[in-house]
Amino acid sequence: MVRGREIELVVAEDAAAAAQLAAERLAHAARAGGHVVLTGGSTPRRAYELAAGLEPDWSHVELWWSDERCVPPDDERSNYGMAEVALLDRLASAPAAVHRMRGELGRDGGAEQYERELGDLARFDLVLLGLGADGHIASLYPDQPTLDETGRRAIGAEAHLQPFVDRITLTLPMLRAAREVLFLVAGADKADAVQRAFAGEPSHATPGSLVRAVAGTTTALLDTAAAAQVLSK
Ligand code: 6PG
Repeated sequence: MVRGREIELVVAEDAAAAAQLAAERLAHAARAGGHVVLTGGSTPRRAYELAAGLEPDWSHVELWWSDERCVPPDDERSNYGMAEVALLDRLASAPAAVHRMRGELGRDGGAEQYERELGDLARFDLVLLGLGADGHIASLYPDQPTLDETGRRAIGAEAHLQPFVDRITLTLPMLRAAREVLFLVAGADKADAVQRAFAGEPSHATPGSLVRAVAGTTTALLDTAAAAQVLSK
């Protein structure tokens, strides 16, 4: 375990072990109840499957998403769709509410709808995030004006990596307000981004470096390959 700038780095042996740790954290959150944010991409899929096995009763939580691709929920690129198959369909007791981002409304319509859906919710209990090889988190990409948004909690965004469809994303202030931010990152292709996001100075060039819980905890679960550069320093 390595403590860096306001973040705890937990290094697991491989991607499977990192997914297991993330699943345990998600299952704990399901038991504790509250507002839990899931993320997209491919890395969390195994963690969702394992979390459903560890805790099949998610009736105490309301689920939210960090970002969404502007596609219908049954599209194979949908972040909601991935979580539906990997997690929701495996539960014995469904979450009290499932607040999916409505990709089918388009990026601006979908973001406006999500802000309405958020109501007066000011902070999440747990936010799960991945990290792109370019350092992006949610759909907040390097050096984009979306990183400067301070007034809104959800906004529309352009994709800068595949799949190249518009996005809806939570904003940095909303992510930072969480009681707990948990990154899950695996794979050698992420090693440079991990170094910049978790052991470097805050920079718009690496959005992951800008996400630290301002009044909570921030943890990065890494596998050995993703941690290679931070461990060699
Ligand atoms: C998305 C995401 C995105 C993701 C990273 C890492 O919609 O793609 O929410 O921010 O977390 O791109 O994705 P991988 O785990 O697939 O590398």
